[in-house]
Amino acid sequence: MDKITLSCTFFLSIVFFSCITEAVTYNVIDFGAKPDGETDATYAFLKAWASACNSGSGSGSGSDSNLGLTIYIPKGTYMINAAKFRGPCKDQIDVRIDGTLVAEPPVDYSDDAGNSGYWILFINVDRLRVIGGTLDGKGTNFWECKSSGQNCPTRARSITFNWANDIVIDGLTSINSQLMHLVINSCSNVKVQNVKIIAPALSPNTDGIHVQSSTRVTITESNIQTGDDCISIGPGTTNLWMDSIHCGPGHGVSIGSLGRNFNEAGVENVTLRNSVFNGSDNGLRIKTWARPSNGFVRNIHYQNITMNNVGNPIIIDQNYCPNNQSCPAQSSGIEIEKVWYENIQGTSTTEVAMIFDCSPSNPCRGIKLQDVKLTYMNRTKALSVCNNIGDDAILPDTCL
Ligand SMILES: *[C@@H]1O[C@H](CO)[C@@H](O)[C@H](O)[C@H]1NC(C)=O
Ligand SMILES: *[C@@H]1O[C@H](CO)[C@@H](O)[C@H](O)[C@H]1NC(C)=O
Ligand SMILES: *[C@@H]1O[C@H](CO)[C@@H](O)[C@H](O)[C@H]1NC(C)=O
Ligand SMILES: *[C@@H]1O[C@H](CO)[C@@H](O)[C@H](O)[C@H]1NC(C)=O
Ligand SMILES: *[C@@H]1O[C@H](CO)[C@@H](O)[C@H](O)[C@H]1NC(C)=O
Repeated sequence: MDKITLSCTFFLSIVFFSCITEAVTYNVIDFGAKPDGETDATYAFLKAWASACNSGSGSGSGSDSNLGLTIYIPKGTYMINAAKFRGPCKDQIDVRIDGTLVAEPPVDYSDDAGNSGYWILFINVDRLRVIGGTLDGKGTNFWECKSSGQNCPTRARSITFNWANDIVIDGLTSINSQLMHLVINSCSNVKVQNVKIIAPALSPNTDGIHVQSSTRVTITESNIQTGDDCISIGPGTTNLWMDSIHCGPGHGVSIGSLGRNFNEAGVENVTLRNSVFNGSDNGLRIKTWARPSNGFVRNIHYQNITMNNVGNPIIIDQNYCPNNQSCPAQSSGIEIEKVWYENIQGTSTTEVAMIFDCSPSNPCRGIKLQDVKLTYMNRTKALSVCNNIGDDAILPDTCL
C-alpha cells in the first residue's frame, strides 16, 4: 500500500487550505500480482479489492470528492480467472488500470457456483470508477468451438456490473470477449464513456454493451466493432442516453429481443444521438418476440444518425420467432409507442431500408419520421415496409 500525501495548494495570493488529505493506493503488485501474463493474479486482485473495500471513512461520502481509495493496476499483462468484486464497500473506490487483463488459460466458468458466465463481476458496489484498462477475453477458441456445433464449456461475459449504483466506466478497451463484452444489469446512474470494444464481425454473441433492468445509464463517445449488437437494451431499461457512438461491424443498436416472457418490465426513455453506423447488419432496431407479453417500449428518440452501408438502417420487427417455435399467438404483446426518428441520413445495403413490422394485435403508435433520407446503393430512394403502424404515424412516403 502506498500512501501519497498531498500538500496544501496555493492559489494566487489567496491561500486555500484543502490541506493534507491522504489518498491511499492499493497497487496489485504489492498484493502479489505478477504482470507476466502467466501467473494467476486473481487472488492478488481479490486481496487488493478486499483491503480497499474494507477501509475508508465509512461515512459514505469519502473524505474528498477527488481523493479516496485507488486500486492501481500498473502496465503489464495479468492473467485473471473468474473474479467477483463484491460490495458494499466503506468508501468510493477508483480502479485505475494501465495494464491488460487476460482470461487465460480458459477455465470453465460454470464451476463458480451460482455465477456461471462471468469473468470480471462487480456486484453490489456503489460509487465505483473503473478508469482505463484493456480486457482480453481470448474468445477465439470458444467461438470456433461454438460454430463447429460441439458441446462447448461454459464461457463468460467479460465485465459485468450487477446491482451497482453511481458507476463510471471511462476509457476501457475490451477485445475478443467470449460472450458479451460489458453488461450493466440492475444498476442506476452509470456513465460509460470513451470505451472501445473490438471483436470480429463473425464472433457469435459478443454484444458490445448490454443494459437491462437499469436506469439513468449514459453511454457516450464510444466505438464498438463486434459480432452481435453494438448495444443491446433489455427489459426494464429506462432513461438510457447514448451520444456519439460508432457502431460497425455489428448488429446495430437493438432494443430487444423483448417479450419472450409474459411478465416483463418495459423499456422507456431511450435516446440515441449523433452516432454513426458503418457496415453494420442493422442500425436502429426494435425487436420483440411474437408472443403474448405485458411489456412495452415507449418514448424512443433517434436523432442525427449517419448510416454508411447498413443492412437494415431502421427496423421494428415484432415477429421474431426463431424456427417458428413457441409463438402460440404469432403476435407480440409488446406495445410500442412514440418512436421518433429525426435526421437519419445515409446508405442502405438492402433495397428496403425501413421496416416497420408491428404486431397485428398491438399496432405501433406514434411512429414519427422527420428528415429521414436513406438511399439504396447510392442510386435510388430506399423502400419501406409498414405493417400495423397505426393511424397516427407520420410515415415515409415510400411505404409499400
Ligand atoms: C420518462 O421521461 C418522462 C419525461 O421526461 C418522465 O416524465 C418519466 O418519468 C420518465 N420515465 C421513467 C420511467 O423515468
Ligand atoms: C450530428 O452527428 C455528428 C456525428 O455523427 C456530429 O459530428 C454532428 O456535430 C452532429 N450534428 C449536430 C447538429 O449535432
Ligand atoms: C467503415 O467500414 C469500412 C469497411 O469495413 C472500413 O474500411 C472503414 O474504415 C470504416 N469507416 C469508418 C469511419 O470506420
Ligand atoms: C410460421 O408460422 C406461421 C403461422 O402458423 C406461418 O404463417 C408462417 O408461414 C410460418 N413461417 C415459417 C418460416 O415457417
Ligand atoms: C456510388 O456513387 C459513386 C459516384 O457516383 C460511384 O462511383 C459508385 O460506384 C456508387 N456505388 C454504388 C454501390 O452504386
